[in-house]
Amino acid sequence: LEDVGIGSVRQQVVNLVREALATTVPDVEDIEPQVAVCGNPKNGDYQCNNAMGIWSKIKGKNTSFKNPNAIGQALAGSLPRSSLTDSVSVAGPGFVNIKLSDRWIEKKLHQLLSHGVGEWAPALSYKRVVVDFSSPNIAKEMHVGHLRSTIIGDSLCRMLEYCGVEVLRRNHVGDWGTQFGMLIEYLFEEFPNWEEIGDQAVGDLQDFYKKAKIKFDVDAAFKEKAQKAVVLLQGGNPQYRAAWAKICDVSRKSFDQVYKRLKVTLEEKGESAYNEYIPGVVEELKGKGLVEDSEGAKVIKVSGQTIPLILVKSDGGFNYASTDMTAMWYRLNEEKAEVMVYVTDVGQSQHFDMVFKAAKRAGWLPEDESQLPRARHVGFGLVLGADGKRFRTRSTEVVRLVDLLDEAKDRSKQGLVERGREGEWSAEELEEAAEALGYGAIKYADLKNNRLTNYTFNFDQMLDIRGNTAVYLLYAHARICSIIRKSEKNVEELKKTGQMKLQHPSERALGLQLIRFGEFVEDAASDLLPNVLCEYLYTLSGMFTDFYTNCKVVGSEEETSRLLLCEATAVIMRECFKLLGIEPLYRL
Ligand code: ARG
Repeated sequence: LEDVGIGSVRQQVVNLVREALATTVPDVEDIEPQVAVCGNPKNGDYQCNNAMGIWSKIKGKNTSFKNPNAIGQALAGSLPRSSLTDSVSVAGPGFVNIKLSDRWIEKKLHQLLSHGVGEWAPALSYKRVVVDFSSPNIAKEMHVGHLRSTIIGDSLCRMLEYCGVEVLRRNHVGDWGTQFGMLIEYLFEEFPNWEEIGDQAVGDLQDFYKKAKIKFDVDAAFKEKAQKAVVLLQGGNPQYRAAWAKICDVSRKSFDQVYKRLKVTLEEKGESAYNEYIPGVVEELKGKGLVEDSEGAKVIKVSGQTIPLILVKSDGGFNYASTDMTAMWYRLNEEKAEVMVYVTDVGQSQHFDMVFKAAKRAGWLPEDESQLPRARHVGFGLVLGADGKRFRTRSTEVVRLVDLLDEAKDRSKQGLVERGREGEWSAEELEEAAEALGYGAIKYADLKNNRLTNYTFNFDQMLDIRGNTAVYLLYAHARICSIIRKSEKNVEELKKTGQMKLQHPSERALGLQLIRFGEFVEDAASDLLPNVLCEYLYTLSGMFTDFYTNCKVVGSEEETSRLLLCEATAVIMRECFKLLGIEPLYRL
């Protein structure tokens, strides 16, 4: 296999265009290659749009070019010779259209089959990223908002990891704050033997929280005790520390259940972890002259906001913002993050806007957001119920995440039983498939929408085998695997000896979509939009259907080539599933 290069296909085209720019207009500064997919596939596969921009820079100056089209012609003429290109043409005001060669597409697909998808990973401009996601609050419910954060955050981590980025997956749990005073005192009162009791005895922590809160609101003596408890805890009193740790531990175990089911890994570094650094950070910010007094509080003013960021409360205590400023300081200085990503609902946009602006004022982040280090808030919309309101269930006001996962799995299992899989498969296989379908459905239903929009939680829709669902896609993948099995050919052998030949237009279209995998990941990862990858996968699946409708595979003359194309499709579908956090199924 001759070297067909690495990175995304678009990056490979960009490299050619960069060379052409350097030879065509060596004296024009600051021109970045502008490469896009051809608007009209008849013209080619990619187009370079630089000619018009260059023209506006050089027209009227002493130049040999008469118009933008002439620049386009010159660029086309100086594109380095490469096995990548089949033909180059210039259209309209200077668009340079590039058609990839079929042979090159075939070679790229062979590269995938023999070396794996790693060679296609796009190069990003940063190497170390903190992704702050999931981040539920101790003793409070982990609600659907946290589920969204967990699913979206995990997928973004997976994409960045695929691109070779070192990702610090951070669970910024709310494990600090004044609510712990009442929780600890309530623990002491209700469970005098709290040190010995098991976690189950504390029971449902949400319920525990509610009861503690009620007592706090009605019982003045308890309230006073709780307030003193906060001081004792923050002062490091061992008994209060131990009680705090106990409460955190109970919560942590219930969060971990959800992560385990969803196969999400995270490293907890909760709010408490930054506490010891807050005074130092406040001093640093004061030293920079950023901190002002406002009604007893210490604040930082930021542009475009009517309220300032409150760094120290009027009672001298620290809050959510103090912790986030400090966590950012820590991530930049101790963890050497180049990019920091925060995945929360859009309701927190204002908070992060203020934190980021304060960090710019402090000189921690550059004003120019194209430079590193960089902070990005990945906001997402609400999950709605059938009534169009915030998602809740009838019995309880909050939806328990484990119940949602259970229901998705149960319904999927039911579907498999109806299809007669119960007798055919082992109980274990049935269980595994039900989980892959059920959890995959929940994840995909969340990821496929632009994260900023609200979406309606609907089991029937997300578990539908037709339509843009994980279930449909998992079936599509399993069908491809069964085509390969039916051929009774050894694919591993075919990969070594077989030859791929793209002949039918639908074969070429499928092949092209496959090799473009890397650039979709590139877009999804740089814009932090998992739905971009979902759309890619759904389109890919449609293209496979076109191919399979038009081209006979098993028993045809082109069987070997077409089986390889099937295999390449299955490989890429599995890669997409992996980046979306979905388990593939090989038969269904
Ligand atoms: N615990 C917060 C919540 O439940 C989310 C924390 C997000 N991360 C952060 N660094 N503020 O709303």
